[in-house]
Formats: sequence, C-alpha cells, structure tokens
Amino acid sequence: MTLLSAARDGFAAAFGYPPAALWSAPGRVNLIGEHTDYNEGFVLPFAIGQRTVAALAPRADGLVRVSSAGAAPAGEFPLGGLAPGGAAGWAAYPLGVAWALGQVARRTGQAGAEPAGRPGFDVHFASDVPVGAGLSSSAALECALAVALNEVWRLGFDRARLVEAAHLAENDFVGAPTGILDQSAALLSREGAALFLDCRDGSWSHADLGLGTDRFGPGGLAVLVVDTRVKHEHVSGGYAARRAACERAAAALGVRALRDVTAGQLLAARDRLTEEDYRRARHVVTEDQRVLEVVAALRAGDHAAVGGLMSASHRSMRDDFEISTPELDLAVEVAVGGGALGARMTGGGFGGSAIALAPAALIPGLERTVAAAFRERGFGAPGTFTVRPSAGARRDE
Ligand code: GLA
Repeated sequence: MTLLSAARDGFAAAFGYPPAALWSAPGRVNLIGEHTDYNEGFVLPFAIGQRTVAALAPRADGLVRVSSAGAAPAGEFPLGGLAPGGAAGWAAYPLGVAWALGQVARRTGQAGAEPAGRPGFDVHFASDVPVGAGLSSSAALECALAVALNEVWRLGFDRARLVEAAHLAENDFVGAPTGILDQSAALLSREGAALFLDCRDGSWSHADLGLGTDRFGPGGLAVLVVDTRVKHEHVSGGYAARRAACERAAAALGVRALRDVTAGQLLAARDRLTEEDYRRARHVVTEDQRVLEVVAALRAGDHAAVGGLMSASHRSMRDDFEISTPELDLAVEVAVGGGALGARMTGGGFGGSAIALAPAALIPGLERTVAAAFRERGFGAPGTFTVRPSAGARRDE
C-alpha cells in the first residue's frame, strides 16, 4: 500500500468518512551546518524521499480531532481553546501548528485571525519518516499540516510564513527550543538540490547536488543514512544546554549571535570564555565557515572537498560541541574507512543518524561493514538506507 492510500484509508477508519484532500511534507538530512541555525548562521539540508502525509477534512463545529497510524487516538480539542501547555504527547505538534497559524495571522493583521474564527478539522497522519532518528519526523508532520491548513483556511501565507508558524509551534507550544533548520528544509526544499539557508535574514537558494547526472545515482555518488537507533530527545537536556552555552559566549563577546564572530576574533577573546564555552563557540564559528566552503565546493563539482568538510564537521561536533555518541562515531569511522568521501552525524545529536557521502557502488559493502562493526562492538543493529534530495511540502491529491 502506498503512503497516500494508507493516509486516506487511515482517515476513513479513524473518522468514518473520506478526507477532503492529502498534503505531505518530507523529513530531511542536514548535509552540513549543525547547531548554526539558532546562532543566526548557515545551514545546508536537503529533503529526503520519506514523507509524512496529512489526510484532512474541515469540520463546521470548531473541533479538532487528530489521529496517527501507530499512535493512540488523541481525543477532541476545541480550536478556540488551544494554548501552549494545553496538550501533551505527539498531539502537541499538530495542535501547536493550528495555534501558531492563528498567532502568525494575528501578527500580520489578518482579519478573523483567531483560530476560533476558522473551521475545525479532522486529520490523520501516515508517515515513513523514522521517528527519533534525527531526520525531522516532527517537522514533517508540522509542515504537512501547515500547508494543509494554509489552503483549507485560505490564509495565503507564503512558505517563509509557514516556516515561522511551524517553528513557533515547536518552540512555544511543544516547548522544544530548536531553530528553523528542519521546518525550512521541509517547506523550501527542491528535488535534486540542497537548501542553502541564511538563518539570520531567512534568504535561501538551492545548491544543485547533481541528481540526474552521473554524480548521484548508479555509477555516481549516493548519501547513505546510518540510523543508530539510539533515541534522541530535544525537549530535554543537552540541546538546550548547548544553545545556552552559545548564547553565553555571544554575550561575553559582545555580539548579537555567534554568526558575528570570526575564528580569529574568537581566539583573541579566548580569556573571556570558560574553556568549555570556548570549544562550543569554536564549533559554531568553524561550522558556519564549512557550510560556505561546501556550497562553493558543490558549485565547483568538487565532491572530494565536500566529503572532507563533512568529516571535519563531525570531528568538531565530537570534540568541541560534544554531541556525538559512540555509535555515531563508529558509523562515521567505518564509512570513511570503507571508502566514503566523508561522513558526519546529522541533526541535533545525542543519538539519531549519521550520513556518508560515498560512491554508489560502495554502498552495499558499507551497509554490511557498518552492521558488522556495530555487532562487534555490542551495539544494537543500525538501520541503513540511501536518501535522494526530494521536493518540499505539497498538496498530493
Ligand atoms: C535539531 C533542531 C534544529 C537544529 C539541529 C542542529 O534538528 O530542530 O533546529 O538546531 O538540531 O543543527
């Protein structure tokens, strides 16, 4: 069964009537630019083929019902009563989007902006984005619903406004202090390309990854994902601590964000930071530089340079930012040892997935050696699969 028919059938099973239409949004990998988004720096993600489909129908009575394959039914919520903290578990993501679209509408002075003034809706989600793998399953869900409600509620928001709403939902309603990387990848990506995004002014362009030429695909290069199946959880712990360290460092250096600091300036100001905050800041400052270098290398078709920068990024996250895990380090080490041009963990860290850029012909061998190395070290079996740069959120039918 395709994902679209799973979403359609799941909707009918949950609510007893067919959906009005289907929308979807993709998961993502980040090629490079990690923990740079909330430091107002640069990122370079691409959307992957795995998607979350939202099957939705409006309701006249102002109620919202949310349902998802593989999750317990989440109940009924009055649209007008949605408020941060008002929902727990996975339902906070879709309810947060409904709430956040109202907030953004109000900010932009739209008449009838209050959610209470909009029709309610029933929505059922079906997804093949692995959950907790660092591939942005939550942003895929948020953005599938954001494009659906944008249309059903006739909001007329452009993609940048939808990024703003989905990001607001995650930060203020769900309570995860993340940046705009994931929602931007889900909403702004284009097939065959990576999204080069400036997280300060929100401007973006697409960097061609060579899909359809002999670089990606058979005979060319491929991106392998190694899902370590070690779960990450952004709402708690390490992610927020890293963000706080970056903000402390920026304040100590007298700048608005670490985006404003060069490696030389950081070194000169070393005395003003604790040793640990210095290393956290060094990751961010050097990572911004690496994103720019990868974009230049892609434009020059120099994939060996791209790979080298990916591996340098991983070392920086392992040693300076300290967000890697033994499983991620092993995946990277084995991939590079087996002929990948470069490899790195992708996403927030503390588990999740690594990606490797490698000649397509080497992928089956790499999958075997990574699995064998995990077994040997006593780690649980990883999931491995290749990903292709895919289209952003859209209406499917
Ligand atoms: C998570 C967050 C993003 C970004 C990355 C790290 O995916 O949701 O905003 O900060 O971690 O680059």
